[in-house]
Amino acid sequence: MSRTGRGAVATAHSNIALIKYWGKRDARLAIPSTSSLSLTLDVFPTTTRVAFDDALETDTVQLDGAPMPPRAAARVSDFLDLVRERAGITTAARVVTENAVPTGAGLASSASGFAALAGAASTAAGLDLDTRELSRLARRGSGSASRSVFGGLVQWNAGTGDADSYAEPVPSGDLSLAMIVVVVNAAEKAVSSRDGMRRTVETSPFYEPWVSRSADDLAQMRRAIADADLASVCEIAESNAMGMHGTMLGARPPFSYWEPASLAVMGVVRALRDRGVVCGFTMDAGPNVKIICSPSDVATVTAALDDAVPGAERIVAGPGPGLLIREDAS
Ligand code: PMV
Repeated sequence: MSRTGRGAVATAHSNIALIKYWGKRDARLAIPSTSSLSLTLDVFPTTTRVAFDDALETDTVQLDGAPMPPRAAARVSDFLDLVRERAGITTAARVVTENAVPTGAGLASSASGFAALAGAASTAAGLDLDTRELSRLARRGSGSASRSVFGGLVQWNAGTGDADSYAEPVPSGDLSLAMIVVVVNAAEKAVSSRDGMRRTVETSPFYEPWVSRSADDLAQMRRAIADADLASVCEIAESNAMGMHGTMLGARPPFSYWEPASLAVMGVVRALRDRGVVCGFTMDAGPNVKIICSPSDVATVTAALDDAVPGAERIVAGPGPGLLIREDAS
């Protein structure tokens, strides 16, 4: 069966985990070893248009006005195959993506990217998926994308298989938090999160201990959120992330995403805490540091960054919206 239609457009935002996803139990289905919890941001959106078109022989994928590099485009096509299979079509698609996230810099471009693609491609293919099904579908493109389907605080339940591995919103109650992304280096990272995870799971003796502590971290994080206890949110997020980065040091060969400026930013956070400012940091598969604090302390934190790491770009973010899908009017 074929489908030539009007297509659809979807926008999704990046998310940053407070309790991390690092490592899969089932790589094909993207079932993680641990449940995770993140904040969808109000910055770094990806907007993706998808149209299936009988006139096309193969998928065409454009990123920010240029053809997407072959390896990344192949990943998009593999994902479209899942959508085509589900919709019972074989038609090739035209995909046009605009990404406000510096791609591959540990700023979770794959999360907003695959969440937007899941929304646009499934709608263009005539599927009418609910948010849970969209989260499961986005997960197949990139694990963290399962969380960008929802806005604000989001928990991705690891589950045991395709059916029960999906994200859902977490009520944030009275907790208000800001995230300051300090861009230490926006260049493409040397070890992709996919390869880094695989190497860690297969070779690091520190991985299992991190996994077994993670469920506790998540339970404590849920409590801290419910209590609107920002100091505990910061402490738990920071220790969960540091543990994740520790697993990489135990891998063979070992690797690390940290750069000298990452350490300088961590030092700023510790010094601020010594002064009584409630804050913490987290890091993903890249050198950039994300500082968590109260919206009322953003100016204090950025002033401290001005002194310690002058010139480092900073993006101040808050809780952002979930996936938005619309018919393509263009
Ligand atoms: O979704 P992926 O495969 O790019 O993995 C993301 C992993 C981390 O960003 C390091 C942690 C997380 O939970 O987002």
